[in-house]
Amino acid sequence: MKITPEIEKKCDELMGQYPKKKSAAMMMMHLIQEKCGYFDDEAILFVAGKLGVEPIEIYGMLTFYPMFTQKPRGRIHIKVCRTLSCALAGSVEFGRELAEKLNCPVGSTSGIYTIEFVECLGNCAKAANVQVNDRLFEGVSREGVEDFITKIKTLDASGDLEPKSAFDKPQGGIDVNSPAYKG
Ligand code: FES
Repeated sequence: MKITPEIEKKCDELMGQYPKKKSAAMMMMHLIQEKCGYFDDEAILFVAGKLGVEPIEIYGMLTFYPMFTQKPRGRIHIKVCRTLSCALAGSVEFGRELAEKLNCPVGSTSGIYTIEFVECLGNCAKAANVQVNDRLFEGVSREGVEDFITKIKTLDASGDLEPKSAFDKPQGGIDVNSPAYKG
């Protein structure tokens, strides 16, 4: 993994948005995840060094939050909700069927696909839910797995599954140098 000068510059900008640089930890980690795809030792040491904390603190966050990973994921990241509403609507069976059809066991990466079971995606009323990169698919079912695969392949071919960057635009947040900031 290579932390580029652009990534480092963005990290410096993020740290500038908080009264204490340590407070930028989560945003920096989201940035590294988005730009590098995963965390290796270099990335952990980089973030820790920037924030002035021990690497174990970054490692702790990395292993606690499921959106961060230590392994590269496939280009198409499929998250199948297995929490109650979705499980009752058949999401687990859907996930297993999908894994078999794509030849990619749940919890692993195979070719362009990564499939995971995840907890609630916050759309329980439309269970069962599956998120593919940034897109949410509602009301999926085991019987519809073939159609689902066709749909994601079509969306991928047209570029419509491309993840959107959270960082390639001007950042909001607090300007601590602004006279309006009272912190
Ligand atoms: S239980 Fe699946 S979205 Fe909430």
